[in-house]
Amino acid sequence: MKTKTPTIEVPGKTKQQRPGGSAASEAAAEPEIVGSLAEVRPKLSTNGHGKAKRIAVIPGDGIGKEVIPEAVKVLKAAAAAGSREVKLVEFDWGADRYLRDGVTLPADAVEMFHRDFDAILLGAMGDPRVPTNVHAADILLGLRFKLDLYVNARPCVMFDKKFTPLKDRTEKDVQFMVFRENTEGLYVGMGGNFKKGTAEEVAIQEDLNTRKGVERIIRYAFEYAEARGLKRVCMSDKSNALTFAHDLWQRVFKLVRAEYPGIEASHQYIDNLLMQMVRDPSQFQVIVTSNLFGDIASDLGAQLAGGLGLAPSGNIHPGQVSLFEPVHGSAPNIAGQGIANPMGSILTVAMMFEYLGWQVEADAIDLAVRGALREGKTPAELGGKLGTREVGDWIANAVAKG
Ligand code: NAD
Ligand code: IPM
Ligand code: MN
Repeated sequence: MKTKTPTIEVPGKTKQQRPGGSAASEAAAEPEIVGSLAEVRPKLSTNGHGKAKRIAVIPGDGIGKEVIPEAVKVLKAAAAAGSREVKLVEFDWGADRYLRDGVTLPADAVEMFHRDFDAILLGAMGDPRVPTNVHAADILLGLRFKLDLYVNARPCVMFDKKFTPLKDRTEKDVQFMVFRENTEGLYVGMGGNFKKGTAEEVAIQEDLNTRKGVERIIRYAFEYAEARGLKRVCMSDKSNALTFAHDLWQRVFKLVRAEYPGIEASHQYIDNLLMQMVRDPSQFQVIVTSNLFGDIASDLGAQLAGGLGLAPSGNIHPGQVSLFEPVHGSAPNIAGQGIANPMGSILTVAMMFEYLGWQVEADAIDLAVRGALREGKTPAELGGKLGTREVGDWIANAVAKG
């Protein structure tokens, strides 16, 4: 289906893209975009020293209800060890609540989070009893969109080579960050059905990309690299096929990369990127991509690093209340058995602390998880014998002992 030809207006100049212009002819041209949006320059973290932090806790569904209590246990141990004050408030939003009284994301939630909280810790949303996934869309995607959490930061860091499925790869080979655009793309819920349920059914899901949305996530990736002394940023899209939406990514990337001459900026189409992540993950330091592609790349990256149950993430709007959650879902296939790996949620607390400015406490959690992996204090996912709670206890104890 063909949509309206996009126009990008720049001061003193209006450029109309030629209808049906091919990817090849566009690639040869100069970047058809100029200027920059000063307000999207990211601040990398809030400065939160010396104040109590207010954290909302939403365990959610399935294993979220098992791993989040362990993460909270470790959170409390780390805060106590560092004499930090935290105020925790739990919310029972998720499938049970939705099935009970129809509530997904309460109407005043967004205002409340802005007013009363510094961060949100979330488990997972998803339950086979809610096949429409409406509560997950309202709560998880709703918070990402309504709090404008445009950065989805998903680190892929191999802690111990014995857990990677990659032959002959070691810790130094998987050390990269995936930045997933988190407020646009195919996730915005624009579209619909026509003649639903008939043999002539039509289903449309729009891929929404804005100049502002694309620029701020790409810029964040470069700022992150620069702040950490990293040298490589790879942008991934599918501009060879998505010649409107991802052509915007191409042009914005060319614009922004020019501002960071000290960083080697590269591009890979998403199909190649996923293959390259398996073939040679050591080539990546920072990957930046769209919402759906980042979702896919981060599950793959998590497994290359050692396991989905180990992977943390942050949904961030720099300087504002932000949401932290493990990369994994509610895992209904293992829920209720007490065997889920809580380490992803525990490392999520470390990411949240880092965001809040509590670096020492974040490092203590990181160290304790590494210790648990080294000493085989692991759940079934990583070949160990410990249950979810025992892993949480071991790590909390290690954090408390320092
Ligand atoms: P999933 O991440 O829940 O599970 C994928 C596989 O990984 C399963 O085999 C599961 O047992 C395993 N796994 C995941 N986390 C684990 C852990 N901590 N320890 C051990 N094993 C773990 O993905 P799915 O099966 O595709 O989705 C299940 C539900 O979760 C769906 O409703 C989906 O929409 C939802 N989901 C939610 C989120 C979120 O809330 N952020 C993320 C992904 C999926
Ligand atoms: C994730 C999940 C969600 C997503 C689902 C539950 C909508 O897979 O957080 O990675 O696709 O963003
Ligand atoms: Mn996902």
